Amino acid sequence: MRRTLYLETFGCQMNELDSELVLTQLRARGYESTDDRQQADVILYNTCSVREHAEQKVWSRLGEMRNWKQTKPHLVIGVIGCMAERDGTNIFQRFPHVDLLCGPGELDKLAMMIDNLTTVGNQLHSERQVALMGSRSRRSSTLAAAHDNLELLDLSRSFSPTDNAAQAYVRITRGCNKFCTYCVVPYTRGPEVHRPPENIIEEVRRLADAGVLEVTLLGQTINHYRYDHGDGRITTFGQLLYQIHEAASHLPRLRFVTSFPRDFEDEALQAMRDCPRICRYLHVPAQHGSDRILKLMNRGYTAEQYLQFIGRARAYMPDISLASDFIVGFPTETDQEFQTCKEVIRQCRFKNSFIFKYSLRPGTTAITRFEDDVPPEVKKQRNNELLDVQAQVCDQNNREMVGRQVEVMVEGQSKLASRWVAGSGNGNQVELGWEKRQKSQDADQPKFQLSGRTRGDQIVVFDGDPALVGQLVEVDITRSKTLTLFGRLTRDRRPVTAGV
Ligand code: SAH
Ligand code: SF4
Ligand code: F3S
Repeated sequence: MRRTLYLETFGCQMNELDSELVLTQLRARGYESTDDRQQADVILYNTCSVREHAEQKVWSRLGEMRNWKQTKPHLVIGVIGCMAERDGTNIFQRFPHVDLLCGPGELDKLAMMIDNLTTVGNQLHSERQVALMGSRSRRSSTLAAAHDNLELLDLSRSFSPTDNAAQAYVRITRGCNKFCTYCVVPYTRGPEVHRPPENIIEEVRRLADAGVLEVTLLGQTINHYRYDHGDGRITTFGQLLYQIHEAASHLPRLRFVTSFPRDFEDEALQAMRDCPRICRYLHVPAQHGSDRILKLMNRGYTAEQYLQFIGRARAYMPDISLASDFIVGFPTETDQEFQTCKEVIRQCRFKNSFIFKYSLRPGTTAITRFEDDVPPEVKKQRNNELLDVQAQVCDQNNREMVGRQVEVMVEGQSKLASRWVAGSGNGNQVELGWEKRQKSQDADQPKFQLSGRTRGDQIVVFDGDPALVGQLVEVDITRSKTLTLFGRLTRDRRPVTAGV
């Protein structure tokens, strides 16, 4: 019997990768994916718990489906990922129509769980609800077992060129041991586990063989990667980078996220400097500029140490592109302390910063230890002020790019072009400007506007053939806006494709 699956993903790149692996496993069992929830036999939400807002989106999705089982009793509804792990069976109590919960550390068993549920068929919901979680309890004895099972999930990925796009994620580390006081990740993803280097290298090499042009290595504190082979040999993060770069010599772009500002060895910076196909880009969240707040957050470094690290990275690679995260409105944050975040952004000249308002997370140390005493309107105000400072820095950075030639990974048609093709203007100045320009140039032959990213992760928009999506091209930067660079395809160079 043909069964259809709807899978929606929230949260970080780890979840995107997990969804891809889950999809591969379910396709192998005969499932076809659909974009229409109403058509699906199995509906899965791969969820994120990092901020309350992320969870609310899933609550509303689940709320909408309260009565769906009345007309479709065989429907299976599942919550997988970090919310399943954090909230556990409370989800069943709140949403009795949910059939399945599966934490991120148990996804290797998901396909089997779904198979079992679909054979149980039309029983009462309460009789067929199943749940598998356990990252938390696994903090001790069964770590090795969890490691092996999850390794099988990563190893199950498809290397067929038809299943792979131009960009792919490869996990090198699972979990996190840092326990920043505000963060749920160590509780949802469990302890830090490093994958064997030979498996990682083989995975990257085979993806490159399949035509993938850009691999992003994933880990919550990726620079802490360190694999103990058990025979006296250790593979460090720097060594891993050198080894992947050498083994996958046909991969044009290798990048990694997310870096932790402490314990970033020189060897890894040297690898970035020495290996031409490793992108000179670091996403290295500062979180705050005040030592007192950094301490309350349990980040383990001072603002000065953070700035020193940035200085060290720039000394190795003056052209490095840097991105950061900040949390505003952490408990007890004063206005003066908040101002220090602006200084960090100005000094580090980040390419961009993700700025978040502190969100109370059940189960974390911060929620039990500190009162959430910064009022919502102050959080909002600080969030906007920091965005403004970052926008000024972006503007300056982007101006400096005008006149340069950059390599761009074409990721898709920009929103602008699709709106134009659909023939609707919506009053937005930028879009109307582009529409007018295109129409006056050549009314009968619509050109498409493409968007992509530089090696430093900057967004570039330019006119081009949609067939270029998924390729690397050279673009001359002609103009800049705060968040976007605009350019034109370089005339004298053919697009770079796999194997060339
Ligand atoms: N491992 C990465 C971050 C993972 S979570 C690191 O340590 O750098 C992604 C981002 O979400 C964090 O960098 C932080 O800025 C933000 N975040 C995490 N918990 C949060 C909370 N409770 N409230 C607001 N933002 C939070
Ligand atoms: Fe969360 Fe801190 Fe771990 Fe990042 S390092 S995932 S912020 S606990
Ligand atoms: Fe969210 Fe889990 Fe990632 S909480 S940020 S999906 S690790």
